Formats: sequence, structure tokens, C-alpha cells
Amino acid sequence: MEETRVCPCKAMGESRREFCAAIAALGLGAAAVAPGVVAAFSGGFDPIMRGSAAGETPEFNLGALSSLPEDGTPVKKAIIADKQDGWTKYSNVPVGAVWLRREGDKVSAFNVLCPHNGCFIAFDPEGKQFKCPCHNAFFQLDGKQNGSSISPRDMDSLDVEVRDGNVFVKFQNFKFGCEEKVAQA
Ligand code: FES
Repeated sequence: MEETRVCPCKAMGESRREFCAAIAALGLGAAAVAPGVVAAFSGGFDPIMRGSAAGETPEFNLGALSSLPEDGTPVKKAIIADKQDGWTKYSNVPVGAVWLRREGDKVSAFNVLCPHNGCFIAFDPEGKQFKCPCHNAFFQLDGKQNGSSISPRDMDSLDVEVRDGNVFVKFQNFKFGCEEKVAQA
């Protein structure tokens, strides 16, 4: 029998955004206990340290364009920033990670967290695709879902720009379990 997947966000109608927040909270709760999932990425981080105005999506310099292979092979880069966790502030710690792909002078960027429930998405070099090991979701190299998938949406793309030979990414996390990309608060 064919399985029909109903997005919980749509099923909840007008209250779907609240439901998404609850799903995200559950995802982060699972992250705290599931190996390979970074609960540490869920806290607030300080964009001011990277020159972004408060309220703007913070931008990070992820290094030289020339450091990325030109053939589109994905490279994972950590996002390093100051992190505020309650009353405690940590300096220069990993707050997230992205997959970067360079094809010639064009670069694309994706958040490594799976839109389903926040596990790390890995690169499968043999299959030339991305794979989330938690529930076997597959994504093409352009971030689109590969075949049927439990993930409710494609990988979360991020704004990226090349300036003065360096790759700048506007980094943000999105809520899990929703068909729409909804930025985490
Ligand atoms: S968390 Fe990635 S498939 Fe479930």
C-alpha cells in the first residue's frame, strides 16, 4: 500500500507555525540524545562579531574560493562564532556548518542540518549525492530531494556571494519538519 505523508504544518492549519516551533523543539531535544546530531548548534550566536547588524542574517567569510574544488565536489565548512547560552558566552565556537559546492566561479551553500529532524547530512562520494543517515533521506548535489524521502523539503540553501576571492555565506538555521523554509528564531 502506498504511504501518504501529510505535512504536520499543513495538517495544523492556521496554527502550523506554532506546531513547527514545537516540532523544532522536539528535534532539538532529539539532537541532545542522538549521536551525530549537534545540539550545540541550536543556541543563539552573536552576529555582531562578524559585522552584521542586529536582526540581519549574519554573514561569514568561509575562505578563499580557490580552496574549493572546481568540479562541484562538496566541501564542509564550520561556522565559527561567539555563542550565547543562557548567561554564558563562548568565544569562537562551532555554531553550525555548511556544505559548499563550487562549479567554476559559481558557489552554492546548504545548511548541513536535515530539514526532517536536524541530523547531519553527509556527502556520499560513491553515490554522488547527499545522504541523511538518520532516516535515509537522499538529496542530489543541487540540494533537491532524490527520490521519495521522509524529508519534507529540499536541503536548506543559503545565500552565498564571492567577493575579493573569498566566499561569504549568510548563515541561518531553519525549522525542522515543515514543507516551508521557516527561519529559526
Ligand atoms: S533527520 Fe534526516 S531523514 Fe530524518
